[in-house]
Amino acid sequence: GQKTFKLNTGAPIPVVGLGTWQSAPGEVAKAVESAIKAGYRHIDCAWMYGNEHEVGEGIKAAGVPREELFITTKIWGTYHRRPEEGLDDSLKKLGLDYVDLLLVQHWPIPLIIRGDEKIPLNADGSRAIDAEWTVEQTWELMEKLHATGKAKAIGVSNCSTAYLERILSKAKIVPAANQIELHPFLPQHKLVSYCQSKGIVPQAYSPLGSSGGPVLQDPLVTEIASKHGADPAQVVISWAAQRGVVVLPKSVTPSRIATNAKLITLSDDEMLKLNELSQQPGKAVRLIQPAWGVDLQFDN
Ligand code: A2P
Repeated sequence: GQKTFKLNTGAPIPVVGLGTWQSAPGEVAKAVESAIKAGYRHIDCAWMYGNEHEVGEGIKAAGVPREELFITTKIWGTYHRRPEEGLDDSLKKLGLDYVDLLLVQHWPIPLIIRGDEKIPLNADGSRAIDAEWTVEQTWELMEKLHATGKAKAIGVSNCSTAYLERILSKAKIVPAANQIELHPFLPQHKLVSYCQSKGIVPQAYSPLGSSGGPVLQDPLVTEIASKHGADPAQVVISWAAQRGVVVLPKSVTPSRIATNAKLITLSDDEMLKLNELSQQPGKAVRLIQPAWGVDLQFDN
């Protein structure tokens, strides 16, 4: 079976999961099916990605018993006041009756509800944030939702230490996971340590730096890859996994999907160099810059 970490609920979570953000409908069912057939047992979805129906088809086509799979989905900002509605819609689309992990997506920031708009905007183009609702209130509803059994574990995403502290000060249930952008150009050392000290499993989205960008072409990454006879993606994924981070590489390409799940063992020296890569001039790039108009207080 796939390597797993343990959540604070006691449940195992496979270390590598298939990311499905920006996987087009029409491609994603095949990607999910091929991932499960290649040995993946963990699929990372979200209502917001707009492709859960196809993800569900892929899960069904792979024919693996439900209890062997670890499925995550997320409730979007416009569902923070009504997370059960978001989850129920996801479950219907996925063809499931529970998820293994439900996250508050994708920022700890509630959005106003205006018809079916996914990203309601203000007149000036900024996100229409629901100023009369807090993530602490969302979390209370998540805890209630957990009690229904439809979400075996609950967690958050894109929470800085400051946001986690806010949630923890009110929470009855400690979030099981915090899904954040993480790759060698954004190693998130402080946040990873903080999460781990609280029993929150950090999860990496865009672990390849997204879109096969500069991270996979970085000379240090390619040098370590050729030493191991591995792909640059395997180096980057294995680096995160060796730090105790769950890794969610997105691909719709069957050969890459298979390769991405093959972890290699990096030496202490390689880990150290990769840990310090973002300190080189020009490499501490945040590739996905949120435009929420609020300070998310990430530090690196
Ligand atoms: P594709 O889906 O066409 O295979 P991230 O998970 O960091 O957001 O990166 C996803 C991007 O990286 C996608 O464009 C994906 O392309 C590409 N990708 C996924 N796996 C690999 C790999 N092993 N080598 C190179 N690029 C990859």
